[in-house]
Parts: sequence; structure tokens; C-alpha cells
Amino acid sequence: MNTPITKTEILAWLRETDPQRLEELWRRANETRRAHVGDAVFLRGLVEVSNFCARQCFYCGLRAGNTRLVRYRMRADEISEAANQAVALGFGTVVLQGGEDYGLQTQWMADIIRRIKTETPLAVTLSLGERPDSDLKSWREAGADRYLLRFETSDRNLFEEIHPPLGNRPCDRIAMLRRLKELGYETGSGVMVGIPGQSYESLANDILLFRELDLDMIGIGPFIPHPATPLGMGLPIFSPSKNHQVPNSELLVYKAVALTRLLRPDANIPATTALATLNKTNGRDLGLRRGANVFMPNLTPHKYRRFYEIYPSKACITEPKNQRADLAGQMQAIGRHIGTGPGGRKKQVRLAPDSWETELNLA
Ligand code: 5AD
Repeated sequence: MNTPITKTEILAWLRETDPQRLEELWRRANETRRAHVGDAVFLRGLVEVSNFCARQCFYCGLRAGNTRLVRYRMRADEISEAANQAVALGFGTVVLQGGEDYGLQTQWMADIIRRIKTETPLAVTLSLGERPDSDLKSWREAGADRYLLRFETSDRNLFEEIHPPLGNRPCDRIAMLRRLKELGYETGSGVMVGIPGQSYESLANDILLFRELDLDMIGIGPFIPHPATPLGMGLPIFSPSKNHQVPNSELLVYKAVALTRLLRPDANIPATTALATLNKTNGRDLGLRRGANVFMPNLTPHKYRRFYEIYPSKACITEPKNQRADLAGQMQAIGRHIGTGPGGRKKQVRLAPDSWETELNLA
């Protein structure tokens, strides 16, 4: 079923600069999206549960070494409240995301997951970093449905340079994604576009890897420099020749999203917050018109939002309160509608229990 698109073609599109020719790529991606996942846009309520992080990633503002950041961890009742808000807004999924924070204790998280799963119809997605296998198991048993872990770049050397290990624990996100699948999670991953040191060739490999890993969700956003991180300080160690470096531009993100849709027609692909940050007026909508079918409205309590500063000026910080009618109107304006139900991957929905029937009927 996958469109036979070669690495050479991917590279040619990534380097294409003619807007007229690019229209062809946008059209193909949009048609593929419509044929395979339809016009529904699935909304995932994003709750940023903690900005503590044990890691020292060179790109991320939450890195442990950023001592200027005010840290917070949401209380259990605040997380529950945010999940209830997702239900009230008609969303099918809540995403509990945080730094790799071992203060989010295994059992405490499991209790929260169990509570959301018993009290609401929501699918629960976790995005809590490279936690040990036993945690992933407990949370799956507690009812978590999905896990997001971006591999950031398929270039092993670049990844190792920007992602120091935690103590002497081996770090292999690809292996972890495979393990998550074994545990029965729907798995999501993704990359940043324009990481210093990322070449066109390696971005093409990233896109090919999306296909190989058979991911259910694929998030792609621009790298946005954060001044309190080594990469945001423009350290000269990462400077391949100008011809090879992928720019961290809006255009490159659209290309990567569109190509990913061609290679993975039935994946859930969000128009990411980072993309919306580069173009606050219509980045999200252009993403949705060039291959994406999901977006993630932020449900983190406003008092915490500005502290979840992965990168500066995040689009959600100044955003007004989410209103169902506004979101529906925005989708209608681009010829789409809000999806109902959890919005899992189609092939899995077909195997799913009765409670997901509404979605089957829409298919
Ligand atoms: N710019 C853009 N995206 C970033 N992320 C982390 N730091 C940055 C940055 N400076 C992304 C990573 C991570 C996700 C939660 O946020 O891809 O997996």
C-alpha cells in the first residue's frame, strides 16, 4: 500500500525550491491524507505534567543543567482536572507529557492512568522519556494506550552528540520503540528538522525509518534554538558545510510532513506546536493541508505553561482558552471536521473492542 518513493526522490523534494513544483508535493500529500485517513482532524489534549528532567539533551530547555528554569510537577488532582477538561471539550485522547522526571513515581503515575481510564472514555498517551522497562510495563497494565518517544534523528553519531546518556545506561530509542510495541502500546516517534549537524541525507533516512518502524504516530517539528542550551548558544562543533545542513525552516518541515504522509499513508501525523511557533498565523493549518491529520491543543494549567519551555516563544503560551466551537469553526474553515473517539490508527481500530464502534462507523 505504501507509495513506492525512493530515497533519491525524497532528497530531490527536500532540496526543491520552486514553489510551483512544490504545489505538486502538497497536492499529493493532501490527497493521500484524504484517501487514507479522511477529513477528520483528531484533537489530543496535551497536559505537560512536569518540567523536571534528569537528562542533559543539548537542544532542550528542560535539560537538568538549565538552572534558571522554575520547575513544577502537577498534582494528581490537577492532572485529573485537565483530563476532565479534555472530555468536556470532546477530545478523544489526553497526552501526559513531561521531562524524564523520576519524581513522577511509577505507582503514582499508574494510579493516575488507572483513574483516567476508569472515569473517562479517553485514550491515554504517555510521553515521559526513556523510562525503564518496568515502568512502561506498569503503565501499560494500568491502561495507558500509547507512548510517544521521538528518536530525534536517525543519525546515530549526531544523536549521541546531542543526547548524553544517563549514567551508564545504554540509550537506544529505536530499541525502546520496538519494545513499546511488544508491550502493546501504539507508538509514536518523530524528529526535529534543522538540528545543527543534520544533513539532507540524514533527514531522508529519518523519513525512510518512519516507514521501517511502522509507527502509528509521527511528529515532526523544526529545531528552535533555546539560549540556555549548548545548541542554542551556537557552539561551532556542529557545522557541516552549508550545502549539507538542513535549515530549521517552516518550508523544510512542510516537506518532511508531506513526504512522511506519502510513505506512511495511514499514520497519525500532527501539525506540531513547534511548527505553529514558527508561523503563528497559519503554520498549523498549512501543516494540516500538507499531510497532517492531528493537532494537540494545550490543556496545561496556564500558571505552569510558560515554565514548560522546551524552546522559546511556544505558540501555546499566549493562546486563548480552548473552546469547542472555535476549534470546530477553525477546522471547518479549512474543509475539515473534528474527529470523534480516540482516533487510533485505522488498522488497529478495526481490531478494537465495541466501545470504539463510533469510529468504525465513520470509516
Ligand atoms: N526545538 C524544537 N523541538 C524541541 N524538542 C526539544 N527541544 C526542542 C527544541 N529546542 C522536541 C524534541 C522532543 C520533544 C518533546 O520536543 O523533539 O522529543
